[in-house]
Amino acid sequence: MSIYSDYIKSVIRTVPDWPQEGVNFRDITPVLQNSAAFRKLIDSFVHRYQEMEIDAIAAIDARGFIIGAPLAYELGCSFVPVRKKGKLPFKTISETYTLEYGESTVELHSDAFREGDRILVMDDLIATGGTMLAACKLIERSGGIVVETAAIIDLPELGGSAKIREEGHSVFAACS
Ligand code: PRP
Ligand code: HPA
Repeated sequence: MSIYSDYIKSVIRTVPDWPQEGVNFRDITPVLQNSAAFRKLIDSFVHRYQEMEIDAIAAIDARGFIIGAPLAYELGCSFVPVRKKGKLPFKTISETYTLEYGESTVELHSDAFREGDRILVMDDLIATGGTMLAACKLIERSGGIVVETAAIIDLPELGGSAKIREEGHSVFAACS
């Protein structure tokens, strides 16, 4: 958990029954609208990663980009987008994973990393963990080392972070 965990959690909005009945959707837009909260959020990741010799942040489409880009800027490392299928223009590698209903595919440019690069994988939220694990597979297939997976919010009751840890990756969340 991060240094500003309770504060960040207090600014995140929960929208009941969206996008469907029974889902309590964690909405990060109030954090982004509040410059002090957004700064504290990015600072909490900077505090965690500034001494970890990260070569690149692999951020997941789309909300992972919002935190991944300012963090890469602050850490002085590369920013690499992991995108939904069909969005990257150059040669790609892809991973398909299962969603609650159906499946989804994420892609990475084949020249995104050098062998042995130390990668931080970022998204806004970990639910079932499928998206994060698919991104980790892409990174390892391209020779990168996953230093840690990070998100603003972990929903541990959905089992995603436990699954990611079972696969041998470390998980850090700003709050849960
Ligand atoms: C959401 C969220 C994560 C993923 C988490 O993205 O931003 O990427 O789901 O779910 P999981 O842990 O069960 O895989 P979504 O697919 O809704 O895409 P978006 O960012 O484009 O809205
Ligand atoms: N918030 C944002 N994205 C999500 C959520 C949520 O609660 N659940 C699955 N993806």
